[in-house]
Amino acid sequence: MSYFLAAVAWPYANGPRHIGHVSGFGIPSDVFSRHMRMAGHEVLMVSGTDEHGTPILVEADKEGVTARDLADRYNRVIVEDFVALGLSYDLFTRTTTRNHYQVAQELFRTVHRNGYMIEQTTRGAVSPTTGRTLPDRYIEGTCPICGYESARGDQCDNCGNQLDPTELINPRSRVNGEIPKFIETEHFFLDLPALSNALGEWLKSRTDWRPNVLKFSLNLLDDVRPRAMTRDIDWGIPIPLKGWEENPTKRLYVWFDAVIGYLSASIEWARRTSDPEAWKKWWAEGTDARSYYFMGKDNITFHAQIWPAELLAYNGEGDKDGEPGELGRLALPTEVVSSEFLTMEGRRFSTSRRVVIYVRDFLERYDADALRYYIAVAGPETTDTDFTWTEFLRRNNDELVAGWGNLVNRSISMVAKNFGAVPPAGELTDADRALLDSARAAFTTVGELIERHRLKAAIGEAMRVVGDANKYLSDQAPWKIKDDPQRLGTILHVALQVVSDCNVLLTPFLPHSAQKIHELLGGTGVHAPMPEIREVEDLDGGPAYPVITGDYTVGARWGSVPIEVGRPLAPPKPVFRKLDPSIVEEELARLSG
Ligand code: MF3
Ligand code: ZN
Repeated sequence: MSYFLAAVAWPYANGPRHIGHVSGFGIPSDVFSRHMRMAGHEVLMVSGTDEHGTPILVEADKEGVTARDLADRYNRVIVEDFVALGLSYDLFTRTTTRNHYQVAQELFRTVHRNGYMIEQTTRGAVSPTTGRTLPDRYIEGTCPICGYESARGDQCDNCGNQLDPTELINPRSRVNGEIPKFIETEHFFLDLPALSNALGEWLKSRTDWRPNVLKFSLNLLDDVRPRAMTRDIDWGIPIPLKGWEENPTKRLYVWFDAVIGYLSASIEWARRTSDPEAWKKWWAEGTDARSYYFMGKDNITFHAQIWPAELLAYNGEGDKDGEPGELGRLALPTEVVSSEFLTMEGRRFSTSRRVVIYVRDFLERYDADALRYYIAVAGPETTDTDFTWTEFLRRNNDELVAGWGNLVNRSISMVAKNFGAVPPAGELTDADRALLDSARAAFTTVGELIERHRLKAAIGEAMRVVGDANKYLSDQAPWKIKDDPQRLGTILHVALQVVSDCNVLLTPFLPHSAQKIHELLGGTGVHAPMPEIREVEDLDGGPAYPVITGDYTVGARWGSVPIEVGRPLAPPKPVFRKLDPSIVEEELARLSG
């Protein structure tokens, strides 16, 4: 048994999430966490909504509401959607809790005390017409690194590099096109150069990451400069230093605080249990806990450079040394598990151009497991990948329904019809044994693949066993056996055993249908635990809010469980829904309309 932290990217609470978002971080992290729990490990899966910074302000301005109201609204939408998808967070919270403010401020203070937060005068953009500061994201221009013409002041979406708005060539305001005026302003910069030796050492010991992610992360070390960790903005966490805290127009940079969410959410989770120190089992440096961070590739910089740098600075482990703060020495990520981008029918997801399908709309028309299946089997695991409705239809109908659903259905129906209960197995033939062995062996292969975040290969292996079982039934043709009840019973016993095994193998991927199939097999109780929404009080007196949490100590374990002879089975109800081909036209019409 080991400790595993599943640190899942925090979605901005500036709108509902679409399936591109959940394919990058939501489903992969849930499959991993569910499997690790089934395999007997102690998993802590945390995240929440990212509620500060300009992404929230921009949308709030557009809708004419306060940032807080906007965040409240979309926090709830996202919480509801993630529960509907079955994402099994131990805690899904928000960055506006008092607990998070305290932890973020503790990190800032200690990083500052250790000398890694340096004060510098810099040039900040203001609008020449209104005099108001122009957040980085409001500025657009040509990327000085790759020449992309629509780079934003904070980041270039083409080459992925972090930028400073003053570096943009031909900067202009995205609000009204005017050329921003740059004025002098004071900010705190994370001293990345003083941390780059330590960062490099850590990164060079990370050999088993996905090659793209490692390469991108190592490249970041080529150009290490101090990065501003404060902003001229009035929405965010106050800077916890004398003379700054009271200033209403200076706040911590949203990315400085967001990545701290992994830690603060772990602390919040522990504070809500009987052991407020329990978070340390996943975080104290020097334990053998492992931490996996799940995200889309536009987040790599912040998880492979900024967050580890914050941790090293907090620990006092850069060139300037220092002492860890009151939380003690904290562990750096074991792996940054970044996926690539999902596109939609050949185009980038775009809310404004309506190239999008929101999780909520998707789940109104299709089942959560249909999406989970598609993302696991055809998601953007290591290359940019296109979602098409034709392919979704095909995967659903040909693989999920005609493959797995059909195996479940015909096995259970034949048992119900011929025996009414699980029949005993007589003497096994080579074919019987081969199938049983291949299902049993799959627990090792599928398990190892999930542990290495190779979900496509993992679900492919599980579905291969499903295919073998379907072939076994066709070869054995139990429906043709008229007067050998013992052989008929043996075949159906073997088939049911393999259905049961495949159901366990597929549980991390398809938890909703796994629960149903467990019940069709005559099982009772929880097979695949589900998350729930709980309304909680803020631990430190702030406003109440909804969280996702759950009891995941129950449910199936990873491994083959012998089916119980004599257990009654009723004729099955279909578990998966076959989709009409007309959905493709309908969905394409929605996309362009
Ligand atoms: N909100 C960011 C995004 O959607 C992700 C933040 S991940 C965090 O790109 F860990 F930093 F919170
Ligand atoms: Zn660029």
